[in-house]
Amino acid sequence: MVKLFLDSAILDEIKAVKKIGILDGVTTNPSLIKKSVDKLKGEESKGVDIESYIKEMLEVCGERPVSLEVIGVSFEEMVREGKLLYEKFGKYGNVYVKIPVNTCMEEECSMEGDGIRAIAELSKNNIPVNCTLVFTPEQALLAAKAGAKFVSPFMGREDDYIREMNRIKFDKTDYFPAKGIKKGEKVLDDDGIVSGVDLVDGCVKILSKNRFECEVLAASIRSTRQFREAVKVGADIVTLPYGVFIESLGHAKTIEGMKKFSEDVVEEYAELLRGRK
Ligand code: G3P
Repeated sequence: MVKLFLDSAILDEIKAVKKIGILDGVTTNPSLIKKSVDKLKGEESKGVDIESYIKEMLEVCGERPVSLEVIGVSFEEMVREGKLLYEKFGKYGNVYVKIPVNTCMEEECSMEGDGIRAIAELSKNNIPVNCTLVFTPEQALLAAKAGAKFVSPFMGREDDYIREMNRIKFDKTDYFPAKGIKKGEKVLDDDGIVSGVDLVDGCVKILSKNRFECEVLAASIRSTRQFREAVKVGADIVTLPYGVFIESLGHAKTIEGMKKFSEDVVEEYAELLRGRK
């Protein structure tokens, strides 16, 4: 059964989704941690105790996996930080260490594979790894082979990239068709990948065909439709921003139906349900 994660480091959001009763895990990254720290700084004048904050986040999540990302870019730094995160917070909950598939930040990369090496090293030490910033099924395959427990293809950002490469103006939440965008006879692509959904589909097919014990965690989801499409192509896990989680519960016809049912309640039926007879 597909698992639903929350893509947020905001405690109130985590608690709210947990309360609904359908939370399977949480994913964070440095940008999401920044968002929660900025929010806390706005609420309280005293400094933010990030260690206690993360500890509480893990305690709230209990057995559910919580991904915490490293910030180092070399093999040594990532392994050290991964072990630190796991050792410091592992006793409070179920920590997954998030490692980028490749930490190169230049146009020209030597592709020494620091990310993959770090995944292999941490996995060898029984530290569960979520491999992040995945944009090709090949990256997912290498990460799975190195022992990653989750691979995170970034759907929304793949769609952004296809539009950026083709100078198409867009808003981040604009729908991008799962089958891609046609320009003349050609469907626009990123080395054969036509959309974020297609990227997830490729990862699912390659990992399941090769029977890796690694789950595809569809990330960078910006809309309910993208959420639906990720599940349809077989993502094992989808991680949703809080807004998408809540939006997924709504529909104009659900509201209309609710109003009508409420209007039509007869006194006899209401009395029965009050339990007074
Ligand atoms: O799960 C990854 C996510 O936080 C990135 O989302 O919308 O910034 O691409 P986004």
